Amino acid sequence: MTDDAPDTPPNPRHVGTTSDQEEDAYLRLALAEQPTPVAVATPTQEGLIRSASPSAAGATAASATLEPVDHETVLVLDFGSQYTRLITRRIRECHVYCELLPPTTSWDQIVARKPRGIVLSGGPASVYDPAAPQAPPELWASGIPVLGICYGMGLLACGFGGDMARLERREYGPATIDVVDRDLSRGGRDLFDGLPDRQPVWMSHGDSLTRLPQGFREIARSENSVAAIADDHGHVGLQFHPEVAHTRQGTALIDNFLKRVCGCGGDWTPGHVVTESVERIRRQVAGGRVICALSGGVDSAVAATLIARAVGDRLTCVFVDNGLLRKDEARQLMETFGEHLHIRVLHVDAVDRFLRRLSGVADPEEKRRIIGDEFIRVFAEQALLLRDEGYETEFLAQGTLYPDVIESTSHDTVNAARIKTHHNVGGLPVDLPFELVEPLRYLFKDEVRLVGLELGLPERMVYRQPFPGPGLAIRVIGEVTRERLETLRAADAIVVDEVRKAGLYRELWQSFAILTPVKSVGVMGDGRTYHDVVAVRAVTSDDAMTADWARLPYETLAAISNRIVNEVPGVNRVVYDISSKPPSTIEWE
Ligand code: XMP
Repeated sequence: MTDDAPDTPPNPRHVGTTSDQEEDAYLRLALAEQPTPVAVATPTQEGLIRSASPSAAGATAASATLEPVDHETVLVLDFGSQYTRLITRRIRECHVYCELLPPTTSWDQIVARKPRGIVLSGGPASVYDPAAPQAPPELWASGIPVLGICYGMGLLACGFGGDMARLERREYGPATIDVVDRDLSRGGRDLFDGLPDRQPVWMSHGDSLTRLPQGFREIARSENSVAAIADDHGHVGLQFHPEVAHTRQGTALIDNFLKRVCGCGGDWTPGHVVTESVERIRRQVAGGRVICALSGGVDSAVAATLIARAVGDRLTCVFVDNGLLRKDEARQLMETFGEHLHIRVLHVDAVDRFLRRLSGVADPEEKRRIIGDEFIRVFAEQALLLRDEGYETEFLAQGTLYPDVIESTSHDTVNAARIKTHHNVGGLPVDLPFELVEPLRYLFKDEVRLVGLELGLPERMVYRQPFPGPGLAIRVIGEVTRERLETLRAADAIVVDEVRKAGLYRELWQSFAILTPVKSVGVMGDGRTYHDVVAVRAVTSDDAMTADWARLPYETLAAISNRIVNEVPGVNRVVYDISSKPPSTIEWE
């Protein structure tokens, strides 16, 4: 069976590259240099961080290194379908904790997680390929409920003695299935409970069942083949993909499998996540002290707040003000953390340093390199200062998210690698060993947001649109000066304000202003002007990998344009960027 992409698949990636991740990337540079994640300071120039964490040398694909957790767990074994992560997401949407593991995970490790159920994902292979990846043989007799999807159904069928064969014509795309058996048994009726007899689904398979395994029966059919099978012991096979949005009842089906077949109650809620994370952090940090870089983005804010709950004033946050944030962001961050959450934040005014180093630099990659380099320097200096004051920090908080853990080739890791190649951490202090604390390591981005709300972080912070680490420096096209930053900041604040007024802020992936290096002629009052051109960019996207320019209402565009020209000195023209990604990128630089 193969899993090809439908034309418009719901994209399983939820990885926005935010400034948090950017800072993480900088901090990870040191880690990547260390051959083994041992808890010994490495006396290299990049030996900023040591780690006892499995992620230290870079999170690996479908890592089997997450420690077992205490609540209801369902495992997904990843046979390579592009939708596998989506299965994980859907399961968590049903409030059941779920981990993605490679099929090579040892049976001992699987059992150690006490799974209530195991999902075998789809995958590109055919079950009869000599090299076809297999499920652990112990699975079939374990009594653990199994949901096999496409390739996973083939494994399930063969595992219990059924037969599969190549279809003459592959079944691929939308199809309709009919439920043909609503038997009262565990694997039958309950799976389709509350769902209609006829349902649209997304098919993608080249093999089909030719002989039912002993004890199984067909419970749903498509026009061409068996669509679903089940036995009385909680083993279910689906020939279609319940995880993709085209299978409209798919999440309900998964929910039925989890709640009715596996007997899960659904205890994975933001409240539980908070309690459990706090407990886990307490265990790890014990009496130690933690340092955390705050960027203004949601990941670092949530990570810091969780850690503060766990260890109180043994957390110190460092906010490096690089002068490249949006209007009022630095102030809001300090207010939220200092006054509202009572978390100790060192506000490091590094604006002059950053701007001095950026002076005369027009190349975007060079800007990125300088900003990353300067960030590491400032951060390391602060850690040293703390140590000199007798405040020894042993732990460094990082906002690593679950997608980083399950996909080593994710956008972020690639991004980190790219930044690394430009990076030279020359002259850094050599002796700052840290162990990593990664409280978001189990969470997807939208779960991080829910946890943030649960922790009482303001919605404005929790739902902030992604903002690049190099900040406004890559939106002032060409050389970055204090004056040009001021101009951009004023224009950008108007864009955000009008987008919010129109109620569109959360619908848009990003909306912002760019200060172009173009000057144009205008007329103001009786006089001729020769001033800057500001571009406005607003995009919709799921993941930043692709993006469409947003069809903003004319009234919103008009308000933005009028206000910028009237309120921002030195700007006499506003243009709207109507390019999508690809071929354009979201940022101009
Ligand atoms: P592009 O411009 O490549 O951006 O379409 C995709 C997403 O990544 C963000 N972005 C960055 N984030 N450091 C970051 O932390 C960067 O250097 C960087 N460049 C782009 C961008 O805002 C968008 O969300």
